[in-house]
Amino acid sequence: MPTETEKTISGFYDGIFHFYEAANIFLTFGLVRLWRNQAARIALKNNPASCLDLCCGTGDFAIALNKLAVKKPKITGLDLNPSMLSIAAKKSNFSFILGNARKLPFAHDAFDLVGISFASRNINISQEFFVDTLKEVRRVLKPGGVFINLETSHPENPFIHKIFLLYTKIIISVLCLLSPKNAKAYRFLSNSITEFYTVEELSKILMEAGFKKAEFSYLFFGAAAIHKAIK
Ligand SMILES: C[S@@+](CC[C@H](N)C(=O)[O-])C[C@H]1O[C@@H](n2cnc3c(N)ncnc32)[C@H](O)[C@@H]1O
Repeated sequence: MPTETEKTISGFYDGIFHFYEAANIFLTFGLVRLWRNQAARIALKNNPASCLDLCCGTGDFAIALNKLAVKKPKITGLDLNPSMLSIAAKKSNFSFILGNARKLPFAHDAFDLVGISFASRNINISQEFFVDTLKEVRRVLKPGGVFINLETSHPENPFIHKIFLLYTKIIISVLCLLSPKNAKAYRFLSNSITEFYTVEELSKILMEAGFKKAEFSYLFFGAAAIHKAIK
């Protein structure tokens, strides 16, 4: 059973699911699509036959995986929010499952690849919860399987970091004004970006969860980063 906090966080998307992806594209000047494609290319290097898009939302990472794969893998998406999944199901015919990332309804060693895009901040309720979920990801990966994490990050350059934080703050304030009923969701978005781990911290956490190797690459001066970890 999801906790109240897990329900609250995934419930934030109830008010925004119908324009979620359009807002992403607007807020990142379209970069979100390039970033998902970049993560998908890294994820597909070993031609995975079975892929899980964890916290798939409206299914856009799953779609990127399918579009860029030479040999089409079997793709499953999982999310805790039925409204987000309803949009995903309209856009593609992969198998979409309602479920909690912390307690996955899959057998051990079920997938060659698990990917999560822009959702680690959602499952990082506490570091302990986050590590538990990463252990669960590891459990459903085959030995040698790959975990890809695409998430916002912290630009290394302090000046660019300041601009990034200022941009986030301004855009969130504008969104709160335009749509006050979703203000809690937007504030969560802003706070979770500021509070999320640095690339080095995240690599350490992945190792703590039992992964063998964790490497990362920055995107757009460090506004986002892709971590790749191996079971
Ligand atoms: C920011 S969206 C990311 C969606 C998608 N991966 C993307 O790239 O746009 C975060 C998603 O995580 C889901 N989520 C939050 N907590 C979850 C949990 N405990 N288990 C499964 N999904 C969860 C939300 O419902 C939401 O769809």
